[in-house]
Amino acid sequence: MRLLFIGDVVGAPGVGIVKRAVPVLRGRERLDLVVANAENAANGAGLTPGLYRQLRAAGVDAVTLGDHVYKKLDIEKVLTNPDEPVVKPANFPPSAPGRDHAVVAAADGTRVAVVSLLGRTYMKPVDCPFAAADRVLASLAGHADVILIDVHAEATADKYLLAHHLKGRVAAVIGTHTHVPTADEQVLPGGTAFVCDVGMTGPYDSILGRRIDRVLSTAVTFVPSAFDVAEGDVRLAGAIVDVDPATGKATAIRRVMWREDELANGPA
Ligand SMILES: [Fe+2]
Ligand SMILES: [Fe+2]
Repeated sequence: MRLLFIGDVVGAPGVGIVKRAVPVLRGRERLDLVVANAENAANGAGLTPGLYRQLRAAGVDAVTLGDHVYKKLDIEKVLTNPDEPVVKPANFPPSAPGRDHAVVAAADGTRVAVVSLLGRTYMKPVDCPFAAADRVLASLAGHADVILIDVHAEATADKYLLAHHLKGRVAAVIGTHTHVPTADEQVLPGGTAFVCDVGMTGPYDSILGRRIDRVLSTAVTFVPSAFDVAEGDVRLAGAIVDVDPATGKATAIRRVMWREDELANGPA
């Protein structure tokens, strides 16, 4: 089976390209499952129920978030609905609203578990991601054929540590949060696909998705300004992972980054 993971969807430009691209990519790339990190979908921070429904209607089968999970509090009722395939970071405390995993059926019937973990370096303190991963994996035994982990972390070392902690036990460890893709995609021993960061889905004529003039002037002058989402050079970034559903192990990972004009029907 083949799954596409879409990196941090930023603002209306990011949601827009997902809505246009996923219906095309499903056929063109022969995708069985699409997962997206949507923590920046609502004007750059958080996710609203309406945008969640738009992503789902476009063909996104499951949604992960990150440190911005509760920026739009309306999302709480979606996060706590057991029928909605959306997860909070699994190393948030049990009292934090939402579920620590979701199991969704891929087009070929494979049961795929989706889990999110936050890093701890240069980020707000959270519970141990290694212990949280072990806890969730134990609870998934017998309930999922394939496991996909979104590691949402600032530090590359946090992502490598989690990938090696999880290798041989999950199909994929996919990095998000920095909005900058890394060129280290690989299948680790034991059949775990890994990449440090898949990059963001949104406007690349920007500073990590925000308007260059606003971010730069604030950095230079220390005068606060609204870091509005930028508009130009919109791209969809992610990774395509091939998995053997019989073993739950990855056989290949490919980084992808498409501009609007590369998303028309036909071969890539
Ligand atoms: Fe983040
Ligand atoms: Fe992000």
